Amino acid sequence: MNSEGESTQIAVLGLGYVGCVSAACLAQLGFPVTGIDRDEYKVESVRRGVAPFFEPGLEPLVRENVAAGRLRASTSIAALADADIAFICVGTPSEKNGNLGLDQLRRVVGEIAGTLESRTKPLIVAVRSTVFPGTCEEVVIPAFQGNPLVRVVSNPEFLREGVAVRDFMEPSLIVVGGEDPEAVRRVAALYAPLQLTPCLVGLRTAEMIKYASNAFHAIKICFANEIGALSARLHIDPAEVMETLCEDRKLNISSAYLKPGFAFGGSCLPKDLRALTYRAQRLDLRLPLLESALPSNQQHLQRAIDAVLDLPAKRLGVIGLAFKENTDDLRESPVVTLLEQLIGKGRQVRVFDPHIQLDAIYGSNRNFILQQIPHIGRLLGASLGEILEWADHVVIAQKLSAELVEQIGRSGLPVTDLVGSSLAYVGAGAATVAS
Ligand SMILES: NC(=O)c1ccc[n+]([C@@H]2O[C@H](COP(=O)([O-])OP(=O)(O)OC[C@H]3O[C@@H](n4cnc5c(N)ncnc54)[C@H](O)[C@@H]3O)[C@@H](O)[C@H]2O)c1
Repeated sequence: MNSEGESTQIAVLGLGYVGCVSAACLAQLGFPVTGIDRDEYKVESVRRGVAPFFEPGLEPLVRENVAAGRLRASTSIAALADADIAFICVGTPSEKNGNLGLDQLRRVVGEIAGTLESRTKPLIVAVRSTVFPGTCEEVVIPAFQGNPLVRVVSNPEFLREGVAVRDFMEPSLIVVGGEDPEAVRRVAALYAPLQLTPCLVGLRTAEMIKYASNAFHAIKICFANEIGALSARLHIDPAEVMETLCEDRKLNISSAYLKPGFAFGGSCLPKDLRALTYRAQRLDLRLPLLESALPSNQQHLQRAIDAVLDLPAKRLGVIGLAFKENTDDLRESPVVTLLEQLIGKGRQVRVFDPHIQLDAIYGSNRNFILQQIPHIGRLLGASLGEILEWADHVVIAQKLSAELVEQIGRSGLPVTDLVGSSLAYVGAGAATVAS
């Protein structure tokens, strides 16, 4: 129900896999829904209570809701007149070069805009089609030429064909993005019966989450297939390997290692990836995804290095030297590479690590610093205070305790955080959709 106490009227533009499933399911949730498509066959089919394509469970929903008068269909954009919310579900196919084809989107948005002259009530346009981040801002919103009746939100669809009705009714994720909180709230409220709290985010963020999700799914499949292929070549049961890997809910199937931050390093990940891909190559087995992990990590480190080199700083205080927090292990620490490049480019640098004090560490780490990286050992400060006194810019290269973060904050020095939010150093300038 909307704030006026009436049932929200919904229009769904595009009755393909996403649109028809969304229309039938929203009608099933009790909303009056009009599906609009240029394809007469699909519209006729829905009117007769028949699903226009095969999707398990869709036909009974279409039949039931058409019979109940909650689901209608039309080929005319004029059927949008009564709608409070219009879901855009048109296709966004790949162009030959891989870019996203926005012809259907531009056309439907133009058609919606054409209905606005005679419109008196507000309209929320919810983009459900998959569109590249920035499309709502650069293509959809401008089409409405600042009409105060229209607000635009992004509400990406995550359903899978074959289980689409179940995915709609039992969603894994609901995302509503927009800059108008009331419009976002109203679209999110449609999903209240589904018992999953929608994630409310910014417009571009919602668009990006859809791409991030699909990229993640693709990477997961390729990962499982590459590990499976190598396992099979080694006469190990691929299913048993992956099933057992999935038993680990703390590090493997969890949010661990899924936060944008600094490059990885240390004594295990680089070494073991190298061994895995080397052995696969010896078996004439190409594993492009696994082979790309170290180059990807190197690229990420280089972005951080470039960002630090670009800083208008004279004296850089780098905080963190070990490859991660709470260790004094320096093996393959990306900070060592960062420092070497800064020194090489003539920057004045000093470094502090809470767990690496030359007079306090011993054994292999002390020897490593004194023999392998003495040029970096010489940069070590005895205390954070000493570094903060000296520096005119702080670079955080390791997760720090709350006390150290507070101490850095009190210094008033400008900070570049390589670990917390990658926006600080990789977000240079927003790209345009350019389609
Ligand atoms: N298919 C999936 O599993 C899936 C899942 C999640 C997201 N998506 C995304 O959802 C979007 C739609 O995908 P789909 O598979 O449903 O596409 P589809 O090609 O099956 O359906 C698109 C429909 O839009 C209609 N259409 C085009 N222009 C129109 C206009 N101006 N007015 C009215 N109708 C118009 C077409 O006739 C067609 O019926 C795409 O962006 C896709 O990437 C798809």
